[in-house]
Amino acid sequence: MRVLISGANGLLGQHLIRSRSREAEILGIVRSRDSTGSRGEYETRELDLTQFSEVIQVLDTFAPEVIIHTAAEGRVDAVQKRIDEFRALNVELPSLLSEYAKNSGAQIVHLSSNAVFGGGAESYSDYSRFDPINGYGVLKAEAEKSVIEQNPNALVVRPILMYGWPQPSGRQNPVTSWISSLREGKMIRVVDDVWTEPLAAWDCAEAIWCALDERMSGPLNVSGGVKMSLFEFAHAVASVFDLDSSLIDPASSGDFPTLAPRPRSTSFDLRRLKEELDFYPSSPMEGLEKLKRDESAIAH
Ligand SMILES: NC(=O)c1ccc[n+]([C@@H]2O[C@H](COP(=O)([O-])OP(=O)(O)OC[C@H]3O[C@@H](n4cnc5c(N)ncnc54)[C@H](OP(=O)(O)O)[C@@H]3O)[C@@H](O)[C@H]2O)c1
Repeated sequence: MRVLISGANGLLGQHLIRSRSREAEILGIVRSRDSTGSRGEYETRELDLTQFSEVIQVLDTFAPEVIIHTAAEGRVDAVQKRIDEFRALNVELPSLLSEYAKNSGAQIVHLSSNAVFGGGAESYSDYSRFDPINGYGVLKAEAEKSVIEQNPNALVVRPILMYGWPQPSGRQNPVTSWISSLREGKMIRVVDDVWTEPLAAWDCAEAIWCALDERMSGPLNVSGGVKMSLFEFAHAVASVFDLDSSLIDPASSGDFPTLAPRPRSTSFDLRRLKEELDFYPSSPMEGLEKLKRDESAIAH
């Protein structure tokens, strides 16, 4: 099975590749080969994904049976300041890939985000109405609509705050940057008025492979299933990694007025994940314990 993965060097891309089945022949799209983690174990192609004619050429040549589109501009504050600059990458590209998949008969998975929701509801179902409160969420909502309009068989996966070890050159996530700072004995300020359901990147990857096996389509919420504030989560990280929790200073969102607004409280109803895929994600504590074991394994 030929599988094209965009964002192959990203956090999720790397975990998808690690958990691939033996039958999967991977082509990983990377922005730069300098940072590739492939070590020759799978094919990579260097490509700026906003060059749509080159994207089509690569698709025509590789003829994927599955397209997993993880690449996006995920820096919420960058998108907030320059929303028009990122529309091609975050909206037009997924729409184009979805249309291509419909015409070629490939399965497509597009990565969306909990940011399509504003965080004011008690719980969000797979089919809740969009109400984004920042530019990144606005683009993700536009992309979801367009992906499904182009191709009703597309699967749209919505992860929430993912953690895992990134590539050495990859984007840090809150967990890995907290660990680095606390190891250096630096104070960190973490908000106690934003609640989320942290998700292990490897669980998101497994859920995607499962959904592909089941030929699932439409929207799919994926989270770690346990709601906690970022402050509580930072304490859990300190506890699992034996770090000094007195360095974690509570803050409120109002202390960061220049940042884009974040959904205050996001809780996912994981009905499709659990009932249709029989998939039960790791709790944050289970996930952090595995993260710690994985670090020791990398070190030895
Ligand atoms: N991480 C989260 O907590 C989270 C939560 C909700 C939703 N999501 C969504 O889930 C998906 C995967 O997230 P992630 O954390 O794995 O993202 P990530 O680590 O930031 O990876 C994204 C990848 O996309 C690549 N990319 C960006 N622009 C590109 C371009 N113009 N051409 C080629 N490649 C390009 C990046 O390449 P470079 O490394 O060269 O920049 C990077 O490897 C994204 O769509 C994200 O919006 C993530």
